[in-house]
Amino acid sequence: LREHEEFTKVKNIATIELGRYEIETWYFSPFPPEYNDSLKLYFCEFCLNFMKRKEQLQRHMRKCDLKHPPGDEIYRSGTLSMFEVDGKKNKVYGQNLCYLAKLFLDHKTLYYDVDLFLFYILCECDDRGCHMVGYFSKEKHSEESYNLACILTLPPYQRKGYGKFLIAFLTVTNVIKHDAAYELSKKEGKVGTPERPLSDLGLLSYRGYWTRVLLDILKKHKGNISIKELSDMTAIKAEDILNTLQSLELIQYRKGQHVICADPKVLDRHLKAAGRGGLDVDVSKLIWTPYK
Ligand code: ACO
Ligand code: ZN
Repeated sequence: LREHEEFTKVKNIATIELGRYEIETWYFSPFPPEYNDSLKLYFCEFCLNFMKRKEQLQRHMRKCDLKHPPGDEIYRSGTLSMFEVDGKKNKVYGQNLCYLAKLFLDHKTLYYDVDLFLFYILCECDDRGCHMVGYFSKEKHSEESYNLACILTLPPYQRKGYGKFLIAFLTVTNVIKHDAAYELSKKEGKVGTPERPLSDLGLLSYRGYWTRVLLDILKKHKGNISIKELSDMTAIKAEDILNTLQSLELIQYRKGQHVICADPKVLDRHLKAAGRGGLDVDVSKLIWTPYK
């Protein structure tokens, strides 16, 4: 059902046009054979259909009536919106998104079976519509269904904090359970971790997010705290917490146990180095029912 790209193939499509951007691609993506003689592809930024010629796109834009991704808008704060797309209900969109994303993901599984996935599309919205800046996907049902499968910020939007926002969004929605009164309140205590292997940029972003979240807690917390407690508080997997704190040299090994040594001076030094916090997820702006 899944096809692994065993090694990085030669890049086929060199650039794409998407909305108002022309974007240089990074990696090979297995577009259907009839597209493989094109150096450039033209994407409809809303339905993600792709075409070989500019005129085809222009004709398409005259009749395409989407102004945002399909699916439900589940979050809106200022000009930012998040849409949840069920791969089963929007198969073609899911497939188009995977083709597009693979252009920027190297050693990554390509999912042809989009039925099994939910896609979360982050958009910047204006009077022309909602423009995708990035997305993440997760499997609907699996033993580790709370994990992230793929994450992408489109190159024109990178390094603005959207990656950290996507990671925070996934983490926040993982711990929220929809209760009978239709209020997003109860915490389910689900712990998540991204699918491996992580790309270098993926690892940097996750490490950055984990570092910031953990340092903030350690800074405020008085007294001892265990990795298990941190995991319960943050929905971050214990292993990821241990690795992150080890890389910050905040862990000591005593009597067969890992102990967190949060020296305030060391914390301050790391906090300064941790960079921008990124955009926060405002939970009150979430309009959402978890997938059952
Ligand atoms: N060089 C150095 N550090 C970087 C870079 C870069 N080019 N890009 C991100 N980082 C680090 C920085 O620490 C940054 O924080 P800072 O800007 O405060 O210093 C942090 O990662 C996160 O930056 P964001 O702006 O929040 O993230 P961005 O929107 O750029 O998205 C992402 C990060 C999604 C990984 C993006 O680089 C991307 O789409 N890459 C291509 C696809 C990819 O590799 N995805 C992950 C695959 S693994 C998986 O999906 C499970
Ligand atoms: Zn379209």
